Amino acid sequence: MKSLGLVNGNLVDLNENVVPMEDRGHQFGDGVYEVVKVYNGKCFALKPHLDRLYRSLRAIRIPATYTFEELVEFHELLIEKSGIVEGAIYLQITRGVAPRTHGFPEKIVPCLTMSIRAAATVNHQLWEQGVKVILIPDERWLRCDIKSLNLLGNILGKQQAQEAGCYEGVMVRDEYVTEGTSSNFFVVKDDVIWTYPGTQLILKGVTRTIVLETLAKELDITVLEKPFTVQFVKGASEAFLSGTSTEIMPVTTIDGTLVGDGTVGPITRKIQTAYTRLIDEECGRR
Ligand code: PDD
Repeated sequence: MKSLGLVNGNLVDLNENVVPMEDRGHQFGDGVYEVVKVYNGKCFALKPHLDRLYRSLRAIRIPATYTFEELVEFHELLIEKSGIVEGAIYLQITRGVAPRTHGFPEKIVPCLTMSIRAAATVNHQLWEQGVKVILIPDERWLRCDIKSLNLLGNILGKQQAQEAGCYEGVMVRDEYVTEGTSSNFFVVKDDVIWTYPGTQLILKGVTRTIVLETLAKELDITVLEKPFTVQFVKGASEAFLSGTSTEIMPVTTIDGTLVGDGTVGPITRKIQTAYTRLIDEECGRR
């Protein structure tokens, strides 16, 4: 079992120097990415991730030079050649390599890089007890719906949260709570799940869509995609995060204050269990 890379379709050692200095991803963050989890040697929710990749490419006007089938094949190749059974595949496409100039260079060819690494399964202690988060200002740009390589706002926010002893920083823009630095955010009040609407101000997470369109329906829980304030969050009975790596993570403390009675609530637990079952079914995991 070993970590592996793939550059423009060719397998490479992860530490090989393969990205030219003047790749626009390197110099401008001019590109987009996806992260897909691998369970039991199979990709989970690969189609919605690739659909979003093509949407992100269109949004920043990078031509799609690989077909859906080719990208699926590259994911499968990385799993097969690495021998990794539980892991994560990172994929990024940049506009390509050219002398540095802000406008799009002519005749530039997009550059695809991918890597696979083993990933630990979810920390069960955190799952059982829930995590702490802090609220931080959302200082990102106005197209957070694009999964772009520009993540400065996100990484500074995550670092701030970690330095405060928290698992995640949950961002607030104009009074409203938007999302985590690498996850989507939900609260439960009066048995209804609330989450920020899928506008240009958040990333419409694949996991978020699964919660809204599959799990909540299956469990007959009402969900609202409506902005809510910090004040509203303080009165919530439950809160949780969703994300490819985060899965469904209960939040039991926000800014040092317990959410509800400080234990993982029943709705969060139901969503978490249903999500795990979905992974088991799709990836043939037991
Ligand atoms: N992050 N919001 C933000 C800002 C994110 O970066 C992510 C995912 C999510 C959840 O999206 P999804 O359910 O599709 O993973 C929401 C990835 C995993 C990352 O940057 O590593």
